[in-house]
Amino acid sequence: MSHGPGTVLVTGGAGYIGSLVVALALREGFRVRVLDNLAFGGEAILPYLSHPHFHFVHGDIRSENDLQCALAGVDSIVHLAAVVGDPACRKDPQQATQINKDGAELLCKQAMETGVRRFVFASTCSNYGKMADQNGYVDETSPLAPVSLYAELKVAFERHLLSLGLPEFEPVILRFATAYGLSPRPRFDLTVNEFTRELALNRRLEVFGGQFWRPYAHVADIATACVLALAAEPHLVAYQTFNVGDSTENYQKQVIVRMILEELPEARNLVTSVRRDEDPRDYRVRFEKFSSALGFSITRRVIDGIREIVLAIRTGVVSDLDNPRYRNS
Ligand SMILES: NC(=O)c1ccc[n+]([C@@H]2O[C@H](COP(=O)([O-])OP(=O)(O)OC[C@H]3O[C@@H](n4cnc5c(N)ncnc54)[C@H](O)[C@@H]3O)[C@@H](O)[C@H]2O)c1
Repeated sequence: MSHGPGTVLVTGGAGYIGSLVVALALREGFRVRVLDNLAFGGEAILPYLSHPHFHFVHGDIRSENDLQCALAGVDSIVHLAAVVGDPACRKDPQQATQINKDGAELLCKQAMETGVRRFVFASTCSNYGKMADQNGYVDETSPLAPVSLYAELKVAFERHLLSLGLPEFEPVILRFATAYGLSPRPRFDLTVNEFTRELALNRRLEVFGGQFWRPYAHVADIATACVLALAAEPHLVAYQTFNVGDSTENYQKQVIVRMILEELPEARNLVTSVRRDEDPRDYRVRFEKFSSALGFSITRRVIDGIREIVLAIRTGVVSDLDNPRYRNS
């Protein structure tokens, strides 16, 4: 008898990316378990609560007991739970270390003891820091130069995973581009989303260091990447690191602003650029490795995300846009 793709534990499954991973994994036939401490509420997983293949564990990845409940019978993990972003980690460095490093290591240890094979880890392209060559690109072989506690903790856990070397355990590291777009748990503290919200609401926007580069990816495409990595043949992904995004979606901030203004020309006078000569995070990233290995391709571009947010705001589908639940710090 075939058991289908098995049971996946999504830590942080009530979050911005996680709630879309849950939807997709259920659609792909996985049984889905979510472990989340609901730091930003649980509305994003409401539609799945009574789904016969869904189970929610309200708990914390730092708790051995909660992990034990969440891990029983699990075949694979998408590990998203974290204190997310530089500002949130700066606010409480001790908690960030406990969750992003110690909690992640505890999850990993208990997962191995339970017999979990595939472990997909949500890392970040901010690990690259600043490009050595201003006109070049970085890829998975480039040196890492984390310039924040957030990225340092991601790099530390990446190294931990890669050091394990056990053939029966299959860690996969996905370094996501900066996400944009809407999910059941909207975030308005990410560049594209925040800039679009400010200008759609006719607010003034100060753009710092508009010339610096960053890659962007739609939250739904990031969720697809997680599920692809779960289902891939071991020899393609185990102990591998992949950037997740698209090489044509690297943008300078000032270009993002220009794209938003094309959608909202009436906001033209609301933008001021504040020059910054130094930004420790300035990176243009290549993404071909993941596409070549797993056939991944993006379905949306930044302009689609901008339009989606403008539409959601104009139609009132998202309101109360300054609610602290929509930001991570
Ligand atoms: N959004 C991005 O642009 C981006 C880019 C690169 C990497 N990532 C990574 O992707 C992952 C998901 O990010 P997101 O944007 O969905 O953030 P998010 O804050 O929306 O999701 C994180 C979820 O984890 C939960 N959580 C936090 N601490 C927990 C704990 N101790 N125990 C259990 N649950 C806990 C939160 O309640 C939340 O639901 C993170 O690991 C993040 O570092 C995100």
